[in-house]
Amino acid sequence: MKTTAAVLHVAGGPLELTGVELADPGPGQVLVRIRATGVCASDLHIVEGRLPKPLPIVPGHEAAGEVVETGPGVDDLRVGAHVVLSILPRCLVCPACRSGRTAHCAWGGGLAATGTLDGTSTAWRLPDGAPLHHFNGVSSFSEYVVVPRSGAIEVDPVLSFGAAALLGCAVMTGVGAVRNAAPVAAGQTVAVIGCGGVGLNVVQGARMAGAARIVAVDVDEAKLELARSVGATDTVDARDRDVPAEVMRLVPGGVDHAFDAIGRPAALQDAYAMLAAGGTAVAVGLYALDDTITLPAFPLIGERHLVGTYMGGADPHVDVPLLAADVLSGALRLDELITERPFAEVNEAIDDLRHGRSLARQVLTFEE
Ligand SMILES: NC(=O)c1ccc[n+]([C@@H]2O[C@H](COP(=O)([O-])OP(=O)(O)OC[C@H]3O[C@@H](n4cnc5c(N)ncnc54)[C@H](O)[C@@H]3O)[C@@H](O)[C@H]2O)c1
Ligand SMILES: [Zn+2]
Ligand SMILES: [Zn+2]
Repeated sequence: MKTTAAVLHVAGGPLELTGVELADPGPGQVLVRIRATGVCASDLHIVEGRLPKPLPIVPGHEAAGEVVETGPGVDDLRVGAHVVLSILPRCLVCPACRSGRTAHCAWGGGLAATGTLDGTSTAWRLPDGAPLHHFNGVSSFSEYVVVPRSGAIEVDPVLSFGAAALLGCAVMTGVGAVRNAAPVAAGQTVAVIGCGGVGLNVVQGARMAGAARIVAVDVDEAKLELARSVGATDTVDARDRDVPAEVMRLVPGGVDHAFDAIGRPAALQDAYAMLAAGGTAVAVGLYALDDTITLPAFPLIGERHLVGTYMGGADPHVDVPLLAADVLSGALRLDELITERPFAEVNEAIDDLRHGRSLARQVLTFEE
């Protein structure tokens, strides 16, 4: 079939909306009609070439849609099911999968590295017949996609497609960082540096975990306002403050958990600098390949920790349904984070994200 996809030909962009030829789903694959896709800073990293990928490629990875057709061997997903897509397809037989770390599946890693759906082949071609790459088995900046079955998680159709899309990255990463990487216990104190789509969900996760204090840090007053509305107890405008000193003034002795949800070495260093003894700094942001950090060694005597997290340490097949239930119960509030715009505005949306134009999460929608 033909579908319209936003193709990145060269690092730096722009994306070109192109009619491409999409093959039928192969064994273990599913054809999905995308209904909503968030625009995450990780897509921006790809467009700008900071996260190198085989080109040409179709970015987009935070998405929800409807199953249109299932390939041979897929008998546990019906046509019409609503699904959240995930960049964590898995094989369940490699050493990482067998030890429960499916996010680090060797087969899934191979798909990510090769831009294919099975290690060797892609499901779509450019009009001139040249191969087009998939982004970690998702590539949701497209009207239709073929994805591995293990990268599609069925959700309750009561959930809006926009909210469902966010579960696939910003929520899974933000809430997962709180629940799995930190983890935050009731009564503990938290600071979140960067309150974009991911950071606001760290704030929400901390609120749901029962954190006593949640200090939100950003350079944008509108983001700080949103942070307050989803659970921050205190806010710090990073533009005119020494951030660690201000957080330590608000929470004497420092916080139990500090999250860098920007992806900047300086923010991670700040997160470490504002920790109480025994505290944990969580690197949620994605850094450039050549980024480095410098940390004072002495505070380690206070049993401080620095941890990374990939997609919040979540198992999407377990955590997406749990997070969907949190949305439906009203515990997790996503509607107020979402600004919808048509898929045709994908380049403008990326540009707004690049320049931090005060939108929490832009979600591209597709015509009925
Ligand atoms: N670990 C993972 O698996 C994972 C998953 C998803 C996203 N990410 C990464 O998380 C990061 C955040 O993604 P996002 O989509 O929320 O990005 P975003 O651009 O929406 O949010 C970044 C926020 O940081 C704020 N900010 C910028 N400079 C600042 C400063 N000096 N001090 C304080 N705040 C500042 C911005 O105003 C914005 O609100 C990115 O690096 C992204 O690639 C990582
Ligand atoms: Zn993302
Ligand atoms: Zn595996």
